[in-house]
Amino acid sequence: MDTAIIIGSDHAGFELKEKLRTYLSSKGYAVEDAGTFSEASVNYVEYGKKVAAAVSAGRFAKGILLCGSGLGMSMVANRYAGVRAALCSDLFSATMSRRHNDANILVLGGRIIGEVLAFALVDTFLETQFEGGRHLDRIRSMD
Ligand code: RB5
Repeated sequence: MDTAIIIGSDHAGFELKEKLRTYLSSKGYAVEDAGTFSEASVNYVEYGKKVAAAVSAGRFAKGILLCGSGLGMSMVANRYAGVRAALCSDLFSATMSRRHNDANILVLGGRIIGEVLAFALVDTFLETQFEGGRHLDRIRSMD
């Protein structure tokens, strides 16, 4: 298991980011926090770029991004080569994002989901394996 993960949010995802950071640390993950560090209003693009660039460069195998809806962060992250960011608010999507799409960034809407569901989504994202095979050919053809 890769225990290093990078996480980032804007102000709208800050509260949930803090909860996830504590949760992941308690489970033994080394969590790099790319910010933001308060509820002061910021531009989500800056933080999305930090996390997506780190995953794209191979500095982290997986990342987590949060904004209010999750939409802006998804748009930013998926512009980076090799990044497959999945916006999830249900466990089936989180499972399939790993099994079929080998998602390497999980995106959550801080104004949409509560912490219990967020913890379950993160567990699913981090613990579900990619199936490879025909799905590997498909994700390779994205780039
Ligand atoms: C901030 O108000 C909000 O626009 C942002 O968190 C995000 O939802 C953008 O997609």
